[in-house]
Amino acid sequence: MADKEHFARGLSIGIIMDGNGRWAKKRGLPRTAGHKRGAEVFQDITRYCNELGVESVFFYAFSTENWKRPFEEVSAIMKLFGEYLLKAFDYQKENNRVVFMGDRTALEPRYQSLMNEIEEKTKNNTGMTLNIAVNYGGRPEIVRAARLLAEKVQRGEMSPDQIDEAALSAAMYTHGQKDPDFILRPSGEKRLSNFMLWQAAYSEMVEMDVLWPDFTRHDLDLAIEEFNRRSRRFGGL
Ligand code: FPP
Repeated sequence: MADKEHFARGLSIGIIMDGNGRWAKKRGLPRTAGHKRGAEVFQDITRYCNELGVESVFFYAFSTENWKRPFEEVSAIMKLFGEYLLKAFDYQKENNRVVFMGDRTALEPRYQSLMNEIEEKTKNNTGMTLNIAVNYGGRPEIVRAARLLAEKVQRGEMSPDQIDEAALSAAMYTHGQKDPDFILRPSGEKRLSNFMLWQAAYSEMVEMDVLWPDFTRHDLDLAIEEFNRRSRRFGGL
């Protein structure tokens, strides 16, 4: 495709990886098998986004609500998360800057160290920004931002009237990044599920009927084509 190099360049894409459990159930497999396949797809789609010249991608890996799942499932997801962080990337070659969204202090110390190390090692990379949301919720992120600003006011570093949208944006995990152009949700669900509530104000929603473990590079092409067909007015005419 001649214009392939242009159709995704500079885009910012949010992805809610959904449908792992249903994929496994359909095959009579344990839910964890769906997550394993989902992690492989995560790896491949990240590489593809890189190849397409996407500016930033935001993956929803684990929400603040996902702790309610059985212990075995939560530990399996965390284990996959750790494994894939180590093996998924050649960070220097792929030139990705990795950013973790969410409250990492609730995770096991070894995962926290891994996350800190990866962020530190990749912070000056100039390619795509790969955001991974773990123990993340959009409302807790806004609460955290409000608290950070309140503390600044308390320390006398800013005044209440300096609290504006730009100040709030700068206090989010995604500070300095463009808001997502579109948020992709496979598996047929039509909800944001507490994902990027602040940043999604003008994002297009692209829903697809495929379960995340079945999601392919071609599906991403279709999602981007769908987004490119939409006309965005940001409330204007
Ligand atoms: C949603 O499907 C998926 C999750 C809650 C976990 C996603 C985790 C991974 C893909 C693996 C680890 C992460 C990385 C970044 C390597 P679901 O279980 O809610 O599916 P269902 O709605 O069909 O039950």
